[in-house]
Amino acid sequence: MRYIEVENYEQLSVAAANIIAAQVILKPNSVLGLATGSSPVGAYKELIKKYENGELDFSAVTSVNLDEYIGLDGDNDQSYRYFMNTNLFNHVNIDKSKTFVPSGIATDIEKECKDYDDNIARLGGIDLQLLGIGLDGHIGFNEPDEFFTKATHKVTLDESTIEANARFFESIDDVPRAAVTMGMGGIMGAKKVLLIANGESKKEIIEKAFFGPIDPKVPASILQLHSDLTVIYSKK
Ligand code: GLP
Repeated sequence: MRYIEVENYEQLSVAAANIIAAQVILKPNSVLGLATGSSPVGAYKELIKKYENGELDFSAVTSVNLDEYIGLDGDNDQSYRYFMNTNLFNHVNIDKSKTFVPSGIATDIEKECKDYDDNIARLGGIDLQLLGIGLDGHIGFNEPDEFFTKATHKVTLDESTIEANARFFESIDDVPRAAVTMGMGGIMGAKKVLLIANGESKKEIIEKAFFGPIDPKVPASILQLHSDLTVIYSKK
């Protein structure tokens, strides 16, 4: 594991964007595993800048996102599809038909999950997976549990996750109670993993996840077993 501490969110965002940009430059048809939440917003802004400066070309890139809320369609401004469109895809030359986000409104969620994993396999797996981390150690929406779940699956969100994510909604009652998330198989199958976290509130979970035992109650701890993991943390 490469563990890097930087001074502030700006440095974190620049460092993450540089790693993603290097991936795309070295392999223009990369499959990028992308994440939502507040952590990657700065990195996405940096990637947009690089695209606008002519330094990056996303035309051959494919993306697969980690997760989606159940019940929200892509036009809902709280959906992760909408987040990805507005924070990245609408501003670069990625082909939207090659951007995959699980559907939160599929009538057959089990089939949606299986199809999602089949698609990742068809794409040849993920080259670089970007991750944030929840306060309870979740990655994607893999919540603390008795075991790690391999496949893409439906999850019931923990109360602490609902509370943490309520800041993005008008009221806590509007936060969906369930989501579809890529499982640990998809994430651990990525050739490279980059996890970014910032803020004093994340310090404890970063310690537990990367310097403590590997425990499904701290889902991100499984990443310690990944052979190409980079963690970037900034206190501010
Ligand atoms: C959500 C997402 C995660 C993300 C986490 C942390 O629950 N499903 O993928 O890592 O929030 O979000 P933030 O970066 O806003 O702290």
